[in-house]
Amino acid sequence: MNTKYFFPSRISSLAKLNRMLTGEDYKGSKFFIIVDENTYTHCLPVLISRVSALEQAEFFEVPVGEEAKSLEVATQLWGALLDSGADRNSVILNLGGGCVSDIGGFVAAGFKRGIRYINIPTTLIGMIDAAIGGKTAVNVENAKNQVGFFHQPEAVCLHSDFLATLEPKDLVSGVFEMAKTLLLCDKPAFEGVLKLASGSAKIPLDGIASYIPQCVDFKKSVVEADPREKSIRKILNLGHTFGHAIESYLNEKGQPIPHGIAVGIGLKCELYLSVKKLGMSKEIYDEYCRTLHHLCSFPDITLKDTEGILSYMRQDKKNADGLILCVLLQEVGAPVIDVAIDENEIRDALLKASKF
Ligand code: GLY
Repeated sequence: MNTKYFFPSRISSLAKLNRMLTGEDYKGSKFFIIVDENTYTHCLPVLISRVSALEQAEFFEVPVGEEAKSLEVATQLWGALLDSGADRNSVILNLGGGCVSDIGGFVAAGFKRGIRYINIPTTLIGMIDAAIGGKTAVNVENAKNQVGFFHQPEAVCLHSDFLATLEPKDLVSGVFEMAKTLLLCDKPAFEGVLKLASGSAKIPLDGIASYIPQCVDFKKSVVEADPREKSIRKILNLGHTFGHAIESYLNEKGQPIPHGIAVGIGLKCELYLSVKKLGMSKEIYDEYCRTLHHLCSFPDITLKDTEGILSYMRQDKKNADGLILCVLLQEVGAPVIDVAIDENEIRDALLKASKF
């Protein structure tokens, strides 16, 4: 796996991207940029003006958010690529958050049995998680990421100025994904992020952005060790077994919440079970809950809702032998994968999650 990572440094990450795209490996390649309405307005002009190799690129716009991640959208994009004369030497550039890189990566993985693609994440979740590691997917029947491929990007270009274009709720979403990453590897950094996020009414962008390189390096090292999620990569699903099911269920119920907020609630459930089942420190759980409730509010989870959420958890890709499996923590930095949780424990954790 040879994904290149362009971090901002003395030379900007966009300049490094331009250098790569004007090099020998991309001679004669056609470039196709996938955007959504937000990145079309706020990020595409910056990209085109700073990366001269993309002056002639075509762009395709997909719907904002999870709506982009469908087989219908993928089919439209494949058709548009064919109509534009794309070939096996063509390159897709995904300019957006996790939904754009998921659908763009999926389309790249399928087109002509696989073409190259590059992620240029514009959200915090994208920068520290979704753009890294080659997971691509679409949703099926409200269930998240049910059909997809592992297809690694050629490069991930991190231009943190794009974060200034985010709405507050998207930044909050990213903070939960960041909390997840740091819970897996670094207690002082985890506590530092919680302090920053709960210290004032507005999340300080620069402070949060300073943790991006550490999160990227951590995810990169995990993915390199286990690109196809046979073992260690499973730790990255912390918060997601509950989070994805909550997200899918609320979407079905017509009360959609952003992915990162669902992960935030999922983390609360999984930290609660970590205390209960693996003896993780309760202070960590309490500290986390204070920040969660400072940053967002979410719908009450009733007994009826728990059954709906459970039905999504039974479909989770990580389950085996009919057991619902989850990542829990013994302590910060000590995750345990494939912990079986029974349905009553799930109901208990979900009902606790909506209590302040
Ligand atoms: N978002 C979890 C992973 O990439 O494995």
